[in-house]
Amino acid sequence: MTPDLRPELPVLSAVRQGAPLVVLTGAGISVESGLPTFRGAGGLWEGSRPEELATPEAFHRDPLKVWRFYEWRRGLVRQAKPNAGHLALARMATLAPRMTLITQNVDELHRVAGSPDVLELHGSIVSVRCTAEGTRTRPTEPFTELPPYCAACGALLRPDVVWFGEPLPEETYRRARQASLDCALFLVVGTSALVAPASGLALTAKDNGARVFEVNPDKTPISGLVDGVFRGPSATVLPAIADALEAA
Ligand code: OAD
Repeated sequence: MTPDLRPELPVLSAVRQGAPLVVLTGAGISVESGLPTFRGAGGLWEGSRPEELATPEAFHRDPLKVWRFYEWRRGLVRQAKPNAGHLALARMATLAPRMTLITQNVDELHRVAGSPDVLELHGSIVSVRCTAEGTRTRPTEPFTELPPYCAACGALLRPDVVWFGEPLPEETYRRARQASLDCALFLVVGTSALVAPASGLALTAKDNGARVFEVNPDKTPISGLVDGVFRGPSATVLPAIADALEAA
């Protein structure tokens, strides 16, 4: 039995009628799928600095070190399945006529869960890209040797993700920002809200009149700025929000 969240989210009936909904997700939504977050105890950045593993300079300096990190994560992602939080968001897309799902995650679990048209701000770890030609492939097996090279031209391959210091995919970010400007309800889920420009989208929405709610078991820098907070794991809270939307 999930709690009825309709009184806390009065805007849900408008969303059901077509008022635009935006959801922004971060690493926290994939915790219940067995994938680690970046920050905090046990996080991917614990004991290492992002600049050593997730920048173009780090890759240039030591592609093997960077590839070992990404190939390990690609293995975790291959084993992972969407959890109740991802599935709830896919269900919400069938209930809300205008929903935009934006993610900072590179695990593709929203797509696997069935969410349509996911705006992936930081790329995908499932995909790899030729550093010379820019061609993308989606190898399903682990690489036999690291770092891997392009079968077509012999240049180094790289993970198809956005590293610190690199621009976000332009059209994807443009759509994410426009959706944030236009929405009536913005849910910010499982992100520490520390990495710009994704971290600014919730406040952009708020400044433009949206109601903004956070779903996170822990406090974040934007907790005090939003209209409400659901303190709990997204795999529990999001199904309750989807139920409330269905009943709205
Ligand atoms: P973080 O690791 O910074 O934050 C994860 C958030 O998830 C924290 O606020 C946790 O409290 C929350 N969390 C933990 N368990 C949760 C659960 N079960 N349900 C919901 N939330 C939970 O990850 P992001 O905010 O996604 O960028 O990080 C943003 C970006 O920084 C990443 O995309 C990555 C990273 O460096 C790049 O690699 C470019």
